[in-house]
Amino acid sequence: PASATEPRPGALAVGGVPLTEIADRFGTPVYVLDEAEVRDRCRTYRTAFPDAEVLYAAKAFLCRAMARWTAEEGLGLDVCSAGELELAVTAGFPPERIVLHGNAKSPRDLDTALRLGVGRIVIDSPSEVARLAAAVGPGGHQKVMVRVVPGIGAGGHEKIRTGTDDQKSGLSITDGYAQHAIARILDQPQLRLTGLHCHLGSQITGVRPYLVAVRRLVGLMTRLHEQHGLVLPELDLGGGHGIAYRPGEQALDLTALARKVRTELADACTAAGLPVPRLIIEPGRAIVGPAGIALYHVLSVKQTGDHVFVAVDGGMSDNPRPALYGVRYAPRLIGRHSTAEGTRVTVVGRHCEAGDVLAADVELPADVRPGDLLAVPVAGAYHLSMASGYNLVGRPPVAAVRDGLARLLVRRESIEDIRSRDVGL
Ligand code: LLP
Repeated sequence: PASATEPRPGALAVGGVPLTEIADRFGTPVYVLDEAEVRDRCRTYRTAFPDAEVLYAAKAFLCRAMARWTAEEGLGLDVCSAGELELAVTAGFPPERIVLHGNAKSPRDLDTALRLGVGRIVIDSPSEVARLAAAVGPGGHQKVMVRVVPGIGAGGHEKIRTGTDDQKSGLSITDGYAQHAIARILDQPQLRLTGLHCHLGSQITGVRPYLVAVRRLVGLMTRLHEQHGLVLPELDLGGGHGIAYRPGEQALDLTALARKVRTELADACTAAGLPVPRLIIEPGRAIVGPAGIALYHVLSVKQTGDHVFVAVDGGMSDNPRPALYGVRYAPRLIGRHSTAEGTRVTVVGRHCEAGDVLAADVELPADVRPGDLLAVPVAGAYHLSMASGYNLVGRPPVAAVRDGLARLLVRRESIEDIRSRDVGL
């Protein structure tokens, strides 16, 4: 996780900046991003997958600095809306290195993608084929991939499993829907199919599902070759690489993934008499998750019933993940050294509902009290990108740390921001 050092007990520093200093300067809740950690993670991918195209999945977290860092590290970008796309391009992200996804792309999504000139668009339904072809227009030209569903159940929670036939994304290969959409794509001269795409799910911690996916996708490539004489130069295995949220948890082994996928792909293609396509992967969480830390101040501590509730100044509006997926975090007390014994507490947010729990049944020093600072590590992915306006508390700012310096990347959402969108009375 974010390259933390502890100059004094309790005084945690990230990127050379004490977290207490960040809380003082920017207020809380605040999200801290360790730029060196983000860049290191991009480099780890480039080293592990030297021949592959690595796309950062912007849905995990996007701001202009994040787009710049990932572009500078040689990654491409996976976006799934005109919003993500426009923000990245305004930060200077080269559009030809951007891939547009989405199971229901709006006319604005498609128009923006064509206007800005994205590298590839991933088709997710047969109806999208005609819509896209019409938007490209006669004589135009757009590279596309098609998202297929290989029938594999993998991922950290039911709501983030996308490899099976009973969910909305992609087209099943077992019942012929993918083949049908592909035939329609091949009928459109302005669309050039460059490869198959799949995304199995998220927070996957084992290599095996990816190997099964390689085999099934190469199986489909083989049939497409036989039927249409088609040779596809790319194969996109999506993202989903799992990370450790708490000490002792196991992250997906990227080196093993790279080695085994490469071998599996080469073997399957050789057996089928096909050239080996270029691999594309789309990690989001594994690039930015461990590089982020959320800081909160404790506002109240109370015992009621069997529980000690430690309530902080944020909650499900900046981190909906425990409520949505039952994810467990390991918050820790920072900013002072406590010698008190540990006690079991539930860290909750400030929102008006019982499900607003950030960390159930975790250990904190028994003298935890209002005014204390809590840090939640591994908070970089799918927190702020899923933040809501609930209770109008305003979304938190993002500060970047690097070489002992902190700077603001995204400012706190103010009541003025909220008021200015409210245009009727
Ligand atoms: N590619 C596609 C097409 C995707 O749909 C996703 C994530 C990714 C790549 C990146 O997956 P990653 O490497 O980050 O696991 N909100 C959930 C995660 C939803 C992921 C959706 N798609 C969470 O907080 O766990």
